[in-house]
Formats: sequence, structure tokens, C-alpha cells
Amino acid sequence: MITDPTLSAEKAVEERYSTAAAKREEALCCPVNYDPKYLAAIPAEVMEKDYGCGDPSRYLREEETVLDLGSGAGKICFIAAQVVGARGKVIGVDMTDEMLEVARRNAPLVAGKIGYMNVEFRKGRIQDLALDLDLLEGELENAPVRTVDDYLELDRRLNQLRMERPLIASGSVDVVISNCVLNLVEPSAKEQLFREIYRVLKPTGRAVISDIVANRQVSSEMQQDPELWSGCVSGAFTEAAFPEQFRKAGFQEIEIVSRQDEPWRVVQGIEFRSVTICAWKRAKVSFLPLPDFKLGASGCCAPKTECC
Ligand SMILES: C[S@@+](CC[C@H](N)C(=O)[O-])C[C@H]1O[C@@H](n2cnc3c(N)ncnc32)[C@H](O)[C@@H]1O
Repeated sequence: MITDPTLSAEKAVEERYSTAAAKREEALCCPVNYDPKYLAAIPAEVMEKDYGCGDPSRYLREEETVLDLGSGAGKICFIAAQVVGARGKVIGVDMTDEMLEVARRNAPLVAGKIGYMNVEFRKGRIQDLALDLDLLEGELENAPVRTVDDYLELDRRLNQLRMERPLIASGSVDVVISNCVLNLVEPSAKEQLFREIYRVLKPTGRAVISDIVANRQVSSEMQQDPELWSGCVSGAFTEAAFPEQFRKAGFQEIEIVSRQDEPWRVVQGIEFRSVTICAWKRAKVSFLPLPDFKLGASGCCAPKTECC
């Protein structure tokens, strides 16, 4: 429970998920049925800290390079690792040390069970995927910031790090996925977040994002409540605004591939539910279906065939 109403949205999120990394928090859970065949390799400690609201891993294919934004304890990365296989690669990014600790400690255990290691976890803010926060930590240890000159030097160094040693390089990822995280990013950073998703994707890449959306605009009073914000409620986009963010960032084709009928929560008369959106950087090329090609009910391709 967050009791300090003056906490910034980001600080409230960090505090809440550092606690939720140590002990499961029921209020953050939105039940999801993952494919059971991938769960056997995932330690119970990771599954307990499942704070997702959808399953973007259903829309991945073998050999892809996948980036999971807000990877938490690592569950979706560990599922994705099995879907993309030994020739694919999965990178999880999170800003909360306690979540990264659980995910990093469990990665070798999962690798031992599946027979290969293709997952790594990096520390960063998903709205600034160029800046490696572990590298920044090292810089600050060597050169603490005490004066304005130190600050200006740090600012220059940060830009150099972003360019020369980016956390995630431009055009390097086939699929950006995320499970219940985009809503948690501060309002002032949300546009930058979508630009970053666009930047890191290859020209043929796509984003598959599960998140909570609202059926009406959330009041500014609710947005200032750190408990509701960090609980994946009041940072939610409206259903109309969510796809629009992808369009504004430059994505050419956007499809809602899954939407909960019943709301997950109703707060002050507003319905909050999970959706999964698939957004392609470039419009899909039309082609004749191959014999084993099946269209999904959504018009999007069935998992592990084509498109999503
Ligand atoms: C609701 S949990 C979801 C975790 C995971 N995706 C899952 O399905 O269980 C949100 C996670 O996103 C991380 N997070 C929130 N805002 C972030 C940001 N701006 N940058 C990086 N990580 C963030 C939190 O630390 C937390 O681990």
C-alpha cells in the first residue's frame, strides 16, 4: 500500500514493484492463461510474481529477436525464449533492481531446463531504451556529481553512452513485446516511449503489446493517486487513444488481436480491461496464403504462423 500521496508516478511504480518482487501482490494480478507447455521450465518464484494482463508471447515466431519492456520477474521472457528457440534471442528491460535480481537469478535455471541460454535482462527505463542504467551506475561511482560542472559533464557523457553503447540499438529487434507496463510510464514520457519502440524495431518489425485500457478518460484526480497509478489503473490509455499512439509514432498497420469482454476492474464507474495490440512498422505485404497458413479469428494470423 502506497501511503505518500506526493510520490511521483515513477517513484510510486518503483516502490510498488520492488515490494512486489519480494512478495506476491494479489491486487496487481489479472489472471492470464499461458500455454502450459512453456510453464514447466519456469520456477515457481517467477510464476508467483506474474503481474501481466495478456500474453504477447503467443504472437512470436522461431528465431526472432524479442525485446520485452518491463520484464518484471521474467515470466514472458522465459516463455518467449522457448518460442523463439536456441537461434532466437530475448532481452528483458526493467528499471526495478529487485525485479531484475529475481529474473537474472532464475535465467540460468530456465536455461538448464530448456537446454540453451538465449535470455538476458538489462537495466533501463523503457522510455529511454538507449541509456544503459548499469553503465550509468558505473559512471557515477567513478565520477560523482557534486557541482554544476560535474552535472554538465555527466549530461555530455550520457549522450555519448546513448550513442556509443546503447542499451538497445536502433533497428535491432524483430518484435517488441510488453505485458501490462506501458500504462505505468509517466504521462510526459509516453510519446517518447512510442518513439523508442519504433526506433529499436527493424524496418520489418512489429510490436505486440498487452496492456490495460479504459473505456473513458481517467480524471486528473485519479491520475494523481499513486496507488491507482502504480496498480495499472489510472495510467491507462482510453481504448481509442492506445492505437492512436502507435499511429502517431509512425506504425503503418495496427490491429487489436485480443480484448477482454468483462472488465478487469471498474473504478469510479470507468471500466478497465486488457487488450493486446499488434502494430507493424511497415504495412504488411499482401501475399498468397501458403498451404499451412491459417488466419486467426481476429483477421490476424494464428500464433506462430505469419504476421503477429
Ligand atoms: C505490472 S509489472 C509487469 C511485469 C511483467 N511484464 C509481467 O508480465 O509480470 C510492471 C513492471 O514494469 C516495470 N516498469 C514500470 N515502469 C517502467 C519503466 N518506465 N521502465 C522500466 N521498467 C518499468 C516495473 O519495475 C515492473 O517490473
